[in-house]
Amino acid sequence: MEQEALAKLNLTLDVLGRRPDGYHDMKMVMQSISLTDRLTVLLNGGHGLRVVTSSHFLPQGEKNLAGKAALAFYAALEREMPGVDVTLVKRIPICAGMAGGSSDAAAVLRALNELEGTPFTPAQLARVGETVGSDVPFCVLGGTALAEGRGEILTPLPALPPCWLAVCKPEFPISTPELFNRLDGMRVRRRPDTEGVLAALEAGDLAGVARRMYNVFEDVLPPRQSARVEAIRSELIQLGAMGACMTGTGPTVFGLFETKAGAEEAVEKLKQDHRETFLARPV
Ligand code: C5P
Repeated sequence: MEQEALAKLNLTLDVLGRRPDGYHDMKMVMQSISLTDRLTVLLNGGHGLRVVTSSHFLPQGEKNLAGKAALAFYAALEREMPGVDVTLVKRIPICAGMAGGSSDAAAVLRALNELEGTPFTPAQLARVGETVGSDVPFCVLGGTALAEGRGEILTPLPALPPCWLAVCKPEFPISTPELFNRLDGMRVRRRPDTEGVLAALEAGDLAGVARRMYNVFEDVLPPRQSARVEAIRSELIQLGAMGACMTGTGPTVFGLFETKAGAEEAVEKLKQDHRETFLARPV
């Protein structure tokens, strides 16, 4: 079974506070996009789990989120796991704030659900994904959604009006737990206007969404990284983006464009300095 795993972007990201379980309560508008990994999931008739990826940086086997998803699926089904082969061709940048690993996990859940005769509804499958990672439930369902709680409480939203995205990942890694720790030691000075974005989505007002996009982690990055993210953000705006924002815990920055030509031009320009720059659409 072939599956596409879609990357996600945060149109907004707000952190409401730290919880007793160590996680944080979030409020974020999530959007799945046409940048994808490609997975093949096979029930091989034997035993054991095999996960092979095209990236040397990612763990193989059950340490990979895709492998964890297969284990979680059969645990939820209360059945012993049969032989499962997962082959993963990565295109979504790693450690980028685009939920690449979570999306691979979600794609494995969807594939196994189909291969096993659909024992779970999409909502139940999203619940299974919760045990694998906070962003997995959104990646199971996709589209445009408000994510709250750890990220697992999802409310579907009206689709983002048609537009094009220039998605640029600068070449430095970010540790998600480290950034959450930094945030705990700071006062958040600026927050996104989430309600304004929800109203703009309801009204189909693309410009209204674009000008309100904001991510609290932009202010949490160490100064040198923050300057690099800000430079890409300003470049996107200068290149004609209606709005630009960092996604997740970064460091990827994206710009929202009304026309394909506008986004393509920005991608060509940014690619000169940042190899991992992509043209995408909301899905
Ligand atoms: O759930 P996931 O394994 O993707 O989360 C990775 C890390 O991100 C957690 O260990 C935690 O440090 C942080 N996190 C958080 N609050 C969330 C989601 C993630 O603190 N809502």
